[in-house]
Amino acid sequence: MALLRSVVVGCGSYLPRQVVTNADLETRVETSDEWIVQRTGIRQRHIAGPDETTSVLGAQAAKAALDRAGLSGADIDLVICATSTPDHTFPSTATQIQAMLGIETGFAFDLQAVCAGFVFAVATADRYLATGAAKRALVVGAETFSRIVDWEDRTTCVLFGDGAGAVVLEAREGDGTTADRGVLASCLRSDGRHRAKLYVDGGPGSTGTTGKLRMEGKEVFRFAVGSVTDVIEETFRASGTTAEDLSWFVPHQANRRIIEASADKLGIAREKVVLTVDRHGNTSAASIPLALDAACRDGRIREGDLVMIEAIGGGFTWGAALIRW
Ligand code: ACO
Repeated sequence: MALLRSVVVGCGSYLPRQVVTNADLETRVETSDEWIVQRTGIRQRHIAGPDETTSVLGAQAAKAALDRAGLSGADIDLVICATSTPDHTFPSTATQIQAMLGIETGFAFDLQAVCAGFVFAVATADRYLATGAAKRALVVGAETFSRIVDWEDRTTCVLFGDGAGAVVLEAREGDGTTADRGVLASCLRSDGRHRAKLYVDGGPGSTGTTGKLRMEGKEVFRFAVGSVTDVIEETFRASGTTAEDLSWFVPHQANRRIIEASADKLGIAREKVVLTVDRHGNTSAASIPLALDAACRDGRIREGDLVMIEAIGGGFTWGAALIRW
């Protein structure tokens, strides 16, 4: 049966100029390269300069994705920016990106699902495209977590980095089979009872300040490995595919140990896992599109490949989406 699929026609990313290594962090807090690498797999991260706001990073990534697609801002009628670190409380970062790219038609909004934001944004854009409400969507994940990290807290500050990634999705007719290019299935979940395990201790409606990130690392770890596999299995079921059909597994890049434990649990071969956490750290909603772009540019992800993206973030929020590239 003919239906509309959301096909990835371009992918791009942008990283801030400044690189901060684990050795650099050793001069700021009591930590060591050995501890960070062993516990997380992170070796370095990019940190935004004062002029590199979330919308600036997002617009650069979006421009790269448009270039790769051979399109311009005039071809886009929907912009969704997944972020928890907007430039301002309002207007949305998405509208700022829209303006920077000279897009004057359609609509734009931010989506906040913390580290799961990009998966939520892809699933949301897919609904607009599948119903014909939009023709081409720019889906951006952009973050400057360095602005909300407590740089005195060694248990969190070593984990995060800044960056942005984007994909252009285009509505194209498919025949409704798993051979179609595009988003084949997605599954989203959230459970607000877990707020205290990962949150920011401020906000416009509570303290009137931005606040700093707080996390119970062990609890997040336990929940991440336990729950994310459920949404992935449901996404496989909904699409009629299995882990064996997968070409690439592109998870949220928070921690190498979480990623490898999830892949093992699902029976996904380690060589199919795209890992960038060593170079980027945890860039929250930006981590998946950054990893997708890295794997596209080095020739791993090619047209026709079956790609699973998945993430878990504060809330908790978590989800997965299966894309035929
Ligand atoms: N350098 C050196 N020592 C440290 C550091 C550090 N940066 N941070 C903590 N320690 C110490 C602790 O103080 C503790 O010392 P103690 O035994 O003397 O009390 C010791 O290391 C062990 O601390 P734990 O918190 O038990 O370490 P753990 O093995 O749990 O690793 C980590 C911590 C890496 C945060 C882990 O719990 C984890 O990865 N959790 C998942 C959280 C995550 O990935 N969050 C990302 C954001 S959320 C998301 O993206 C979904």
